[in-house]
Amino acid sequence: ASVCALFGGVVLAQYIVAKKKRAGKKTRIIEMVMDRIKARTKRRTRIITDFDMTLSKFQVNGKRCPTCHNIIDYSKLVTDECRQKLVQLKNQYYPIEIDPQLTMEEKYPFMVEWYFKSHTLLVEQRLQKDKLPEAVRDSDAALRDGYEQFFDRLHQHNVPVFIFSAGLGDVLEEILRQSGVYLPNVKVVSNFMDFDDNGVIRGFKGELIHVYNKHDGALRNTEYFKQLKENCNIILMGDSLGDLSMADGVPNVENILKIGFLNDKVEERLDKYLDHYDIVLVRDETLEVPNAILQKVL
Ligand code: TMP
Ligand code: MG
Repeated sequence: ASVCALFGGVVLAQYIVAKKKRAGKKTRIIEMVMDRIKARTKRRTRIITDFDMTLSKFQVNGKRCPTCHNIIDYSKLVTDECRQKLVQLKNQYYPIEIDPQLTMEEKYPFMVEWYFKSHTLLVEQRLQKDKLPEAVRDSDAALRDGYEQFFDRLHQHNVPVFIFSAGLGDVLEEILRQSGVYLPNVKVVSNFMDFDDNGVIRGFKGELIHVYNKHDGALRNTEYFKQLKENCNIILMGDSLGDLSMADGVPNVENILKIGFLNDKVEERLDKYLDHYDIVLVRDETLEVPNAILQKVL
């Protein structure tokens, strides 16, 4: 059986960049998908997904789309001087985030530095909670094509969706709301702003989630995972190698299918992504493949 056949005619070949020579890897993917199909009547599927550049688009017509942070960076809510500093930080740290030569451990302290500096600037700007919806409306934020189908189907089948993001929770929730997909089966764990009685930011709640400490956050959310049915099948979606540890706190995982979106520095990072993700989607701004899989397994 070919992977394509399993997905019911969806031409996955162009998306799955698994090297043909890696027969072992390919077999493993097929086995996992088969397991999932077998388990479909049991309705034990859960989604654990990253947000920025996974559920949201990386680019449209060659123009980069904003992360949750970028929505604020480019909004009227910050001064020009602050915007300059935030953009400088992005130019300094984003290349480190995606550097194929550095390990996650090597990147870790730089990410902490980036988040600390960036969040400190946001607090200094005295952001107002009630201005966030407008900032999102005015932005170029876009969810990947097929997101309506993705969320609708998961809602219909009562599949818990855990969005685990190192972005800004308040902005992320607003994007979901404005897109009409903040449904009751969706839970968001992210960096949420802490507002004072006047609705002005005074800091951030809880421990920082950055790109490479998602395993800590996952473990802190074990209680949430436990409430969900046991012996589950997980579909994990991410765009960073840091996203691979998002399911670390989940007890009794039967199968896990990891879908990776490789958006940037493709040639340099492809091998690593193929090593760690079961399916690697290259420069694909849609949710067609996850949707095709969900259609089969739910
Ligand atoms: P994610 O976990 O939902 O993908 O969100 C994290 C992304 O946000 C990650 O790619 C880094 C990015 N980011 C910014 O774009 N600007 C910032 O100021 C910070 C701190 C992070
Ligand atoms: Mg991401």
